[in-house]
Amino acid sequence: MENLKIIIREANVADAAALRELRLEALQDRPEAFGSDYEKESKDSVADWEKKLTGQPDNAIFVAVAGSALVGMTGIGRNKHTKMKHGGYIWGVYVQPAWRGKNISGQLIEACVRWSADRSMKFVKLGVVATNPAAISSYVRSGFRVYGVEPRVIFYNNVYYDELLMVRDI
Ligand SMILES: CC(C)(COP(=O)(O)OP(=O)(O)OC[C@H]1O[C@@H](n2cnc3c(N)ncnc32)[C@H](O)[C@@H]1OP(=O)(O)O)[C@@H](O)C(=O)NCCC(=O)NCCS
Repeated sequence: MENLKIIIREANVADAAALRELRLEALQDRPEAFGSDYEKESKDSVADWEKKLTGQPDNAIFVAVAGSALVGMTGIGRNKHTKMKHGGYIWGVYVQPAWRGKNISGQLIEACVRWSADRSMKFVKLGVVATNPAAISSYVRSGFRVYGVEPRVIFYNNVYYDELLMVRDI
């Protein structure tokens, strides 16, 4: 497996089923790391994912592909409001356990930053639970800095989690 070359590319409609599986795996792997939850998203069908991947000029999902398998994903969305279109938000960063520690998340984030730069955007932001050192380390390596803390934004299994708010200027 380690010998397989990783390709980073934008997801397309043909990835809908595999991407749905990967996203559900992420929500089960680290439920406290994501605002969304498995119960809600498991109701989204492959057809729903096909829609998410079609005709979305202000949104993209990048995937890491090993052979024919999706092993990582990251979403980027551009702010909708005219006065805020220079900014965007990274979400859903996930790398399968067997592929961690190889800077795949860094490559996915870089693809999102390039996508944003191509649209003349000036920064991308993200939120990360303060108890996730692996993710924070990856984001710092990718040029993000903390600009604030959102207290107790996630509540899971009777625990409140603060989120670090991070930004990377472009
Ligand atoms: C956070 C995550 C995306 C990082 O992806 P990655 O491609 O492994 O990132 P990196 O290779 O840059 O490694 C980041 C950190 O992971 C840790 N790490 C390294 N190898 C690892 C392994 N085999 N297994 C688990 N963690 C590992 C290290 O602490 C590393 O930081 P360091 O280099 O400063 O020591 C990945 O661990 C993941 O998907 N986690 C579960 C979902 C999640 O937390 N997503 C973030 C939501 S904001």
